[in-house]
Amino acid sequence: MVKAKSWKIAKLFDGVPKDEDLQLVEEDLPGLKDGEMLIEAVYLTVDPYMRVMLETNGKVGDTMMGEQISKVIESKNKDYPVGTIVRTHSGWRSRTIVSADACRRMPELGDLSLSTALGVMGMPGMTAFFGFLEICSPKEGEVVVVSGAAGAVGSLVGQIAKIKGCKVIGFAGDEEKCKWIKSLGFDCVYNYKKVKIDDALKEAAPEGVDCYFDNVGGEFTLSVLKNMKLFGRMSICGQISQYNATEKLKAELPFPMILFKQLLVQGFIVMRWYNRWAEGEKQMSQWIREVNK
Ligand SMILES: NC(=O)c1ccc[n+]([C@@H]2O[C@H](COP(=O)([O-])OP(=O)(O)OC[C@H]3O[C@@H](n4cnc5c(N)ncnc54)[C@H](OP(=O)(O)O)[C@@H]3O)[C@@H](O)[C@H]2O)c1
Repeated sequence: MVKAKSWKIAKLFDGVPKDEDLQLVEEDLPGLKDGEMLIEAVYLTVDPYMRVMLETNGKVGDTMMGEQISKVIESKNKDYPVGTIVRTHSGWRSRTIVSADACRRMPELGDLSLSTALGVMGMPGMTAFFGFLEICSPKEGEVVVVSGAAGAVGSLVGQIAKIKGCKVIGFAGDEEKCKWIKSLGFDCVYNYKKVKIDDALKEAAPEGVDCYFDNVGGEFTLSVLKNMKLFGRMSICGQISQYNATEKLKAELPFPMILFKQLLVQGFIVMRWYNRWAEGEKQMSQWIREVNK
């Protein structure tokens, strides 16, 4: 009998998740049927969307969700021999029995670390690539604002915007993160806990903002909205400031501002471009190699 360990939901999250909301459980796995593989996790993900999805779809006893990179350690599927690396949505588990239809295509990583298949070459990377380029359509010389700029997605959006010749303003939550995104090439960086967003934007973008990549939502986004240029574009990627909120936000409605500034405001879920991921992966890997030359 093969043993597996899995993190289960012990209590539905209320506000910020706590240690006791999760429990590590040991399980016995059955033998493999024809076509199945036993996989062992190499890397697991922790992504903000899990917090939102568990709020709506989670149940006590569920395995904590998430993608993983795993290695096939036993196989009854000739297309997936022992040693094959796969990407699955098996959640926070050490070992899992899967069939081929549960395995997602691995990107071409070359000499990049396997972990990048869950980062820059995976879902966060494709979120930054398609969510920014397809919705904001940035042009050389334009001003781009990124919130959550030190996160997996935001840090990539800022670098892509620099590659496109934009002036990039990033907001992060402490000095160390601000220093790091500055080292990535962001032109202006602010600790949003220490400045008023409006003052920072008046200083860094006195003529207004062309593109806003929103990871944060809430009052932060309302402040950026007031500083958008006419015909500006806003890509609504995430609302992380609201995920752990226990009280509803009381704020003015954004629609009059969207109307009078004639803004394009569009939300997205990255999977809508899943059939184009190969295009994003190719460009991302090329940019990484150029930087590392
Ligand atoms: N639409 C999609 O398909 C899609 C796909 C992937 C991700 N997302 C969304 O994109 C966003 C970023 O994801 P990620 O993978 O980059 O996450 P991440 O690596 O965990 O980074 C999230 C960042 O958000 C900042 N943050 C947390 N609470 C905040 C608050 N109250 N106000 C302002 N900033 C806050 C944190 O940094 P500080 O210390 O700087 O606050 C952190 O750097 C999330 O909202 C996520 O849900 C959407």
